[in-house]
Amino acid sequence: MLEVNLSGLKLKSPIILASGILGVSFSSMKRVIDAGAGAVTTKSIGPKPRKGYKNPSIIEIYPGTFMNSVGLGNPGIDDFVSEINEIKKYNIPLIVSVFGDTKEVYLDVATKAENAGADAIEINISCPHAEISCIGIDKALTFEIVKFLKNKLTIPLFVKLNPNVTNIVEIALAAEKGGADGVVAINTLSALKIDVNTKRPILSHGSGGLSGKAIHPIAVKKVFDLYNTLKIPIIGCGGIDSWQDVVEFFLAGASAVQIGTALYNGVEILTDINRGITYYLKNNKFNSINDIKGLAHQFKTQKVPDFD
Ligand SMILES: Cc1cc2nc3c(=O)[nH]c(=O)nc-3n(C[C@H](O)[C@H](O)[C@H](O)COP(=O)(O)O)c2cc1C
Repeated sequence: MLEVNLSGLKLKSPIILASGILGVSFSSMKRVIDAGAGAVTTKSIGPKPRKGYKNPSIIEIYPGTFMNSVGLGNPGIDDFVSEINEIKKYNIPLIVSVFGDTKEVYLDVATKAENAGADAIEINISCPHAEISCIGIDKALTFEIVKFLKNKLTIPLFVKLNPNVTNIVEIALAAEKGGADGVVAINTLSALKIDVNTKRPILSHGSGGLSGKAIHPIAVKKVFDLYNTLKIPIIGCGGIDSWQDVVEFFLAGASAVQIGTALYNGVEILTDINRGITYYLKNNKFNSINDIKGLAHQFKTQKVPDFD
């Protein structure tokens, strides 16, 4: 009942681990799968090992809402290949998130990941506190990198969208035109938290990316808007911490979802969410996730009445 086919990836559950949370080691990714995820996305992996920013790099600012500026710390693709090999021994559907500073570097990292057994590539062109965010705010650059990678890769290519733009649909359309197999909406929202006593930003980097509970309605609106225009699948991401949050994404038009921040409270939430969605589908006499996809679009907003 929960199976989905996401651009050729057959998933037993539509819930995917989001990039950056528990996605650096084989053992943590396996834990997520054992708890019920349909696939895992790795931490964004670059060409070389990278330390990331100093602490504090992640803080909880309201219950369930976080700000981070971890700064794309990662082991580098050459070291990471051994984790990919390990994951693939268990046949776990694996999406490798990649980043670089030029399209050639993206390609090099993505090709190494594909050769090591990745089932799909997600390109991170959207981290709000790293230099790569400039690609994801520009439709021409987005089109160019997607087309370049699609020409060379054989596995599906997903594009992680930056919500910190005026018009996310136009960037997503550029990705679709470039040949993307899907988009992930959304990455974290650019944010700043200042300590009133020290009078300086709390995160060591200064600003950071907002994730978790508070961003869920924003992410749902982005998915809703994207569904009106895009033909390729949309993977909803942002603030999921219950099955209702997931169902909302499907009603808005998502084909699958990703979950990140909520997993800091334990991976068991995945089991509860799968159970909740199954219950919802059965209770409402639906046979599959596909049956509820985009249903919220039947709603027509009101016209502002004319003055008498
Ligand atoms: C600590 C942390 C690290 C993250 N690292 C990455 C990353 O490396 N690449 C990426 O594309 N997104 C990264 N993200 C963004 C998440 O994948 C996700 O888009 C965002 O957190 C919204 O989902 P959530 O509210 O369920 O966490 C990170 C998020 C957090 C909280």
